[in-house]
Parts: sequence; C-alpha cells; structure tokens
Amino acid sequence: MTAKKIIEQTCGLYRVDLSSVKKIAAEFNGELDRALAGEKSSLQIIPSFLSAPSGQEKGRYIAVDFGGSNLRVMLVELRGQGCYEIIKLVSQPLKDPQGRYDYTTADTSGHEVFAFVADLVSEIWAEASSCKLGLTFSYPMLQNSICSARLLRWTKELKPRQTEGRDIGQMLSKALIDIGIDIKPAAIINDTVGVFMAGCYHDSAVCAGSICGTGYNNCLLEPGRMTASEQVMIVNTEAGNFSSLPFNYYDQILDQATDDPGQQKMEKMVSGKYLGELMRITLRDLGEKGYLPGYDRSERIWNQPYSLPTEVLSWLQSKRSEEIEQFAYWIEVNGFYTNQDGLAWLNLISAAILERAMILIAATYTAILERNRQLNNEKQVIAVDGALFKYMPGFLTGIESILRSELPDRSVALMYTSDGSNVGAAVAAAMTER
Ligand code: BGC
Repeated sequence: MTAKKIIEQTCGLYRVDLSSVKKIAAEFNGELDRALAGEKSSLQIIPSFLSAPSGQEKGRYIAVDFGGSNLRVMLVELRGQGCYEIIKLVSQPLKDPQGRYDYTTADTSGHEVFAFVADLVSEIWAEASSCKLGLTFSYPMLQNSICSARLLRWTKELKPRQTEGRDIGQMLSKALIDIGIDIKPAAIINDTVGVFMAGCYHDSAVCAGSICGTGYNNCLLEPGRMTASEQVMIVNTEAGNFSSLPFNYYDQILDQATDDPGQQKMEKMVSGKYLGELMRITLRDLGEKGYLPGYDRSERIWNQPYSLPTEVLSWLQSKRSEEIEQFAYWIEVNGFYTNQDGLAWLNLISAAILERAMILIAATYTAILERNRQLNNEKQVIAVDGALFKYMPGFLTGIESILRSELPDRSVALMYTSDGSNVGAAVAAAMTER
C-alpha cells in the first residue's frame, strides 16, 4: 500500500461524520438525564448553588484559581455592568520548570499543595484582608453548598495524595490559618462555572460555560431539581468524562498509559493535555511502520510521553510566519528531519485530530442548547475559555459554524471569555453577599 493511502486510512480513524452530531448530542442528553435521575451515567449534574449573576455585583474580592498548570491568586475589583479590573495578580507554576519542586505528583500531600496555595494568597493579603475569597477549583468535586465541596478525584494527570474525599474549602482555610490568615472561601466553583459567571456578567444571554484547555468540561443551567426550589441553577456536568464515544486504536494506546484508564474519555479526545500526545502516538506508529520520512526511533520525542505539545498542532494549522518558524525550530530541536511528504502527513493528521475534537465538542454544545430550549432564550450564548479556543486557529469559529448548521432556526454564538477563573470567582463570592 502507498504511504498516501496509509495516511488517508490513519486520518480516517479520526473521522466523525457531521451527520452523527445529532446522535452524539442525543446520547449526551440521555447521559445527563440519567445523572439527574440518580442512575448510572458517565456525566454528572453537580449543583453549584449559584444562578446567573445580575451583572451589578460590585466590590473587591480575592480570586484563587487552582486548576491549570499555573496557580494564580488575584485581587479583583468588580465595578458592575460587566466591568472589572484585576488590581493585583500573583502566579506560580504547580511544577517548577527548573525542577526545584513539583506539586503535581503523588509525592506531594494535600497539606503541602494547599500550603503552596496559601503562600500565594499571603502575597496579596496586605491589600486584601477585608475581602471575601472565591476559589475556582477545576477538578471533579461534589458540592454540598456554595462554600463546601469534596474532591471526587483528580484529572489532568495530577495526583497529590491524602486529598480525595476531603473538603477543599477546609484544606485551604486550614493552610491559611497555619500562616496566620483567617479566611474561609465564600464560594468554591468549577472553572466552567467561572467562565459562565464572567460571561454572564457581560451578557445575560449566556446560558452555558465551557472550557477546552488542559481539560475539557461544561456547565449549564438546569432547573434546581436537587433542591426544593424550582430555581434555575448552574450545574457542572463533568463533560470530559462523557464515554459514549468510539475510541480508535490510538485513543486506546493513549488511555492505557494514563493515570486513569477508562475515565475522562471525551477529555482525552479533545483537550490540550492530550491532543499533542495523540499526534505523537500516531506519528510514532507510522514511523515504526516505515511511513514517516525522517523518523528516528532513538530520538527523545518518540520515547518520551507528552513530548509533543498540543501547541505544535496550532503551529501546523497557522498561516502566520511566526508560528511557522516556531514549528521549524521545534522540528530541529527534536531532530525530526522530515521532508515535504512528512510535513504534508503531519498537516493532514493534525487537521484530522482537531476536526474530530471540534465535531465532538459541537455535539455536546448542541445537546446543551437543545436542553436549554425550554428556557425560552431568544439568543443563546455559550461562554468559552481555554488554550484551544484562544490559540488554535479556526477552533472557535469551526465549532460555531457546526452549531449554526445543526441549529439553523436559532441564534447561537460562542463568546470567548478570558478571566473566567478570576472574575468568575469574584462574581460568585459577590453573590454570596446578596
Ligand atoms: C475537570 C473539570 C474541569 C476541566 C477543565 C477536567 O479535567 O475534571 O472539573 O472543569 O478539566 O479545566
């Protein structure tokens, strides 16, 4: 078989037909219904105990963002009408690039990781000691109230020990008290809830929030069936765990090597943590079969998991000279001296991986928008954030155009909303003052 045929077949493994969007959306909604009914489901309906903000929330708040590779603490001033200012921001990576510390592994205890968070809060405390604190915590957690939540499990390959099942708010406030800071989080929210809050603070048409960065997830408005009231509440679905999706050969290889095989299936097919790795595994297989010009199995990139960052896919998709140069540099540093054919294969494979991600995400958004139809909104906006939306050329617009063709009778839009994890946490903390 010719190399071209093999590449076509490989790309075919990532093909999800646009005609299956409705079917996937129906399965997603079925899983949500099962979660609501308390039946077995790969999705969850985790109440946030928050409804949509009014946009008039005001005041200064401490926002802590614990969920990506960088830990961030901010002092945020909300000014109402969707306006805000970040007065101060301090940030530290959870894993030091120079290798001096790493809070992501099982060698770290929960106590140590929350002490690290508390130290960062202490850096802004002098200016913030009269402010309430909102915590964005972007891992599956079960909320009992707006300010108390238990960690269900880690995702995104994080694994500090002695944490699962424990109260996140208590772990943080204990670490703060240990260094003389007497404050408890007023609100604990998932990052998708944060992006919803920040988006809705600007535009009341926001009916859902979604992140596609290191991880993937979304939240939506659902009548508060888990409480006595019928109030509409924002709920976190943990959509990254959606499992009614066909895994191909490479998805299986990737999944088996993760910390949580069989879990976070959708996240492993669409998010920034995994897309680069999927591409690496696919290319390595082609190289081993002799179809990748310039492949040298002794190079580090083919032996070291996660050594092909998802950024590479965005450089490949970009037409900007700066990114094309970054890609050329990356190729050289990694000793991957391929030729024109090899570059063409890389382009085709990255496009196939990304297109699948966009179609799957669009299917889950279609499900949410169908579900929200009952809320009778004229215009429906999903607030989105995360590196894929920010940096991947054509990602946001591609998903939006699938949505528009799936729901032609509706006015739907995606709104890129940065600062969800900080403004959102501040707005949530402000809502506790009502
Ligand atoms: C987590 C979610 C989070 C998402 C985006 C997933 O791995 O389980 O809680 O919202 O990543 O950060």
